[in-house]
Amino acid sequence: MNKKEFIPVCEPTYLGNERKYTQQAVSSGWISSAGSFIGKFEKKFSQYCGMKHGIVTTSGTSALHLALVSLGIKPGDEVIIPDFTMVAVLFAVLYCQARPVFVDVEADTYNIDPEKIEEKITAKTKAIIVVHTYGHPADMEPILKIADKHNLYLLEDAAEAHGAKYKGKKCGGMGQINCFSFFANKIITTGEGGAVVTSNARLADRCRYYKNLCFSLTRERNYCHRDLGYNYRMTNVQAALGLAQLENIEKLVAMRRENARAYNHLLKDIPGIQLPIEKENTRNVYWMYAILLHPKKFGISRNELMLKLKEKRIDTRYFFRPLHNQRVLSKFGIKDKSIYPVTQRLSENGLYLPSSSKLKKENIVYICQTIKNLHKKTNP
Ligand SMILES: Cc1ncc(COP(=O)(O)O)c(C=O)c1O
Repeated sequence: MNKKEFIPVCEPTYLGNERKYTQQAVSSGWISSAGSFIGKFEKKFSQYCGMKHGIVTTSGTSALHLALVSLGIKPGDEVIIPDFTMVAVLFAVLYCQARPVFVDVEADTYNIDPEKIEEKITAKTKAIIVVHTYGHPADMEPILKIADKHNLYLLEDAAEAHGAKYKGKKCGGMGQINCFSFFANKIITTGEGGAVVTSNARLADRCRYYKNLCFSLTRERNYCHRDLGYNYRMTNVQAALGLAQLENIEKLVAMRRENARAYNHLLKDIPGIQLPIEKENTRNVYWMYAILLHPKKFGISRNELMLKLKEKRIDTRYFFRPLHNQRVLSKFGIKDKSIYPVTQRLSENGLYLPSSSKLKKENIVYICQTIKNLHKKTNP
């Protein structure tokens, strides 16, 4: 490859009608949140997830907030979330003035550890948010049982796991109400955007109501508002892009999986690197190809590796930092001094490598060879 080429951590991949549909949306004049692409995208995406209703939004963050609002999460309610995930999950809980309750994650999938959930449930717990981290499904069966036993809502955040499967079911198709992001780095994208999917008609209606400033869904607009609403409306142009992307979602997933196969093959013999896994009965979509360094065995630290890769024009990202001790929590009077050892280790030693669906095989070879050389240099 041309060594001057910068390899971004992720860029969108267009395989079909992206230009055609967005142009149609623009030409039609329907560029705000009415227009035929919205309904089509909502219907096809919810069907893809195995759910009855889809409600598109401005982002994954707004989708999470909307879902919690539709569930009636109120100030003082407790919501269980993984300590290791994207901050939007925490923020959505805080927007409701509810209390986030953190649970450590599994050391191999980086998903919420089902065995550590029940000890965090109190009389105030109302919901569990499960995140399918970096594209690997969370272990849903025991979590669904816990939610059922304690009468809790279960919300899946499948922002990172479009098309991932757990025992044959799609991620985002198992909780009562589930959320997606369509940010540009996601497996399918609308630029910015998100969606809520559910099979519960009442929750779907509540989402439609709250996302559109609480205008009545049934009566003519009279500009009287009973509730506090939000403008979380996706545009028709974004939905056009989303629909085109959705038409090729299985190809995009296959490309991600093929990239992971190549990475796994080329990195497997380098000491000190934990590679992503795919548990039995799951389909990992490898949204990000995430590796965990064992610095002593590898020879250099995660941060040094990232710097050296950047010098070689290879872009990477840190893993998430723990949520339980984010400084913003003090503004809500929340202090959590517990230790979450797995999250801690992941946040110190994890990084993800370039992961675009359209990543070239020769670039994967170059990235892996560069990592190999960096290991060798420190361990001659
Ligand atoms: C698990 C998870 N939830 C929510 C979000 C937020 O999505 P958005 O950036 O579209 O607001 C992200 C974004 O990457 C995410 O990874």
